[in-house]
Amino acid sequence: MVVRGRIPKVRKILIRNNVDELNTTAAGLVIAIALESIELRGKFSIALAGGSTPRSLYTLLASDNYRKKIDWSKVTFFFGDERNVPPDSDESNFRMANESLLSPLGIRSTKVNRWKTELEPVNAAAEYEVKLEENGPLDLVLLGLGPDAHTASLFPHTHALREKEKLAVANWVEKFQTNRLTMTYTAINQARDVMFLVAGQEKSDAIAAVLEGKTRVEEFPAQGIKPTSGSLTWVIDEPASSKLKPS
Ligand code: 6PG
Repeated sequence: MVVRGRIPKVRKILIRNNVDELNTTAAGLVIAIALESIELRGKFSIALAGGSTPRSLYTLLASDNYRKKIDWSKVTFFFGDERNVPPDSDESNFRMANESLLSPLGIRSTKVNRWKTELEPVNAAAEYEVKLEENGPLDLVLLGLGPDAHTASLFPHTHALREKEKLAVANWVEKFQTNRLTMTYTAINQARDVMFLVAGQEKSDAIAAVLEGKTRVEEFPAQGIKPTSGSLTWVIDEPASSKLKPS
């Protein structure tokens, strides 16, 4: 008897010619993980990545080609991180995902766990921690990668990198002179699956450092993403992979 169970702990690096092919691959993986999670547990929880890269993936998932592939009523949404701005700010990760995915799919607000940026950052993080604890390990965490090898809002040399207990923190980022709100390594590494989406030549140095460089997590925070038992998949476009050693 074949027992459908956990995807074994594997690390996959998928290189695609361009952003369209990256998104098609990523959408297929998201759908597959969601269907397995809903089949096994009757639900699917996903932490969305912020920034600009994932917008086109979210638009694709909300398109007629994909929207009917999942029972979205069984999906609970989180955000890997958030800027310390109102939800209607053009910098808000919530706003970006709401415009490209959540509203087009008609997702009920009760299924969307927004960081409450109207609160003081520390209080917003504490409130988010409770939501994450109530949910338990996420089924999927989507992540981006900055040119400085940050991911979520885990920036180089910031205190959130050293947080071992909490699942969500406010993280002062000196170079931006502002707090960011972010899931910690502890929260992300508990996930059943973690997927990086990385596109663009400007990410090529960070990709090479994270995937092939010496382990220096304080300098290259994305190196700290090591799922405890889940899988880790990198979906990268050709330009972003251009400094990787030929495999
Ligand atoms: C954010 C993201 C951040 C992002 C990277 C890549 O709040 O900005 O969480 O980690 O994923 O900075 O951003 P781009 O996709 O815009 O290059």
